[in-house]
Amino acid sequence: MKTLIRNGHVVTATDDYHADILIVDGVIEQIGKTLLVEADREIDAAGLLVMPGGIDAHTHFDMPFGGTTSSDDFLTGTRAAAFGGTTTIVDFAIQQRGHSVQEAFETWLGKAEGKATIDYGFHMILSEATSATLHDMQGMVDQGVTSFKMFTAYPGVFMVDDGGIFKALQRASDIGGLIAMHAENGSVIDVLVEQALAQGHTAPKYHALTRPPEAEAEATHRGIVLASLANAPLYIVHLSSYHALDEVVQARDRGQLVFAETCPQYLFLSYDNYEEPGFDGAKYVMSPPLRPKEHQAKLWKGLGTNDLQVVSTDHCPFCMKEQKALGRDSFAKIPNGAPGVETRMSLVYDGGVAQQRLSLNRFVEITATAPAKLFGMFPKKGTIAVGSDGDIVLFDPNGSTYWSTKTAHMRVDYNPYEGRTTVGSVRMVLSRGEVIVDGETFCGRDGRGQFLKRSSFKNP
Ligand code: URP
Ligand code: ZN
Ligand code: ZN
Repeated sequence: MKTLIRNGHVVTATDDYHADILIVDGVIEQIGKTLLVEADREIDAAGLLVMPGGIDAHTHFDMPFGGTTSSDDFLTGTRAAAFGGTTTIVDFAIQQRGHSVQEAFETWLGKAEGKATIDYGFHMILSEATSATLHDMQGMVDQGVTSFKMFTAYPGVFMVDDGGIFKALQRASDIGGLIAMHAENGSVIDVLVEQALAQGHTAPKYHALTRPPEAEAEATHRGIVLASLANAPLYIVHLSSYHALDEVVQARDRGQLVFAETCPQYLFLSYDNYEEPGFDGAKYVMSPPLRPKEHQAKLWKGLGTNDLQVVSTDHCPFCMKEQKALGRDSFAKIPNGAPGVETRMSLVYDGGVAQQRLSLNRFVEITATAPAKLFGMFPKKGTIAVGSDGDIVLFDPNGSTYWSTKTAHMRVDYNPYEGRTTVGSVRMVLSRGEVIVDGETFCGRDGRGQFLKRSSFKNP
């Protein structure tokens, strides 16, 4: 199968030129000014940006959490991702306490197989650092699961103590793994939650008020120190506050291999959303929580200066009606998480490129190239180059996109960005040379997505 994209404005993390792209059997075979070749399908990309498909390195599809399961599975979640211009996701398999990482890996493969429409990899959540899980990390790396998420939050569920995290960091350093850390001080947060509830503070906003940025900064600092002691690289997930960012900046300035992602919700939403009427604040209950507005400019700056390397989503949707409602009487029972896999590329383009905070190259870097490198998928994924997969988004910089639950494809009954219009629109999406989204039409096939056996981390 030969697909030819003509007349496009090609943008990668480093390049910006006009060219034709020939994709043969899923892989980019030629890039040139005016290619003299015939193809089974020709696509005219005149006036459109031709960029690497987005990589969302942080999704939770079909995830059992908070007494329920995230409402998008690999079918609806990857379709929604595709509509948003994302062609690769890295989801989180969960090693449950008392169970093996291999069991978790196979469970998550089973969740994705036959459903995913785009390619996918897995990080492995380590809920404990026993000799068995530590030993079995090697088997995961061998099978292409080269990153491991550990938590300093959620005591009794995912939290592992400092000794356990340190052992996992040492092991990761030995075997070419990367520890991705959810950095919030869970023990302190639990005390604050207990105290808030004892005072009768049950509304959603208390979720944010009991998870202060200092608790994020402390755990970020701790993770950085433990990683330094273990001589291991560290990736901080869903960084939300300038307090935590300052810790990352200091570590990077010392030359330590510390990387961090933020998410659109921390760039576009704020604590004010928790003050929405009634129970609506529950829409934004996620961890870490949304911060006061003044954090946003500092996060954008961090993205511009490469103190933050990635924007991913932490897509973890729960419906208001049946799922968030579990916490009507207590914010502590609201399932943590929010949708975002479909909105990420458009939001970052809008707030980054259109608002002139980021160059087009930087946009590609933080949404595709850097996660591809950090998580061992580059140059197969994350760029447009001869030999790379034909994962491409055709984006109309002169278009606009209106966001609403009614038109979005995520399986959830609200959209945190309801009523917002973003500059630019995703016009077409190709995955390994196949058109999977054409305007409003889904042309992919459920289950066509392939598991990505990832290599070890590379410093982007
Ligand atoms: O609130 C969140 N972030 N839910 C998803 C799980 C996690 O910690 O990433
Ligand atoms: Zn997390
Ligand atoms: Zn997450």
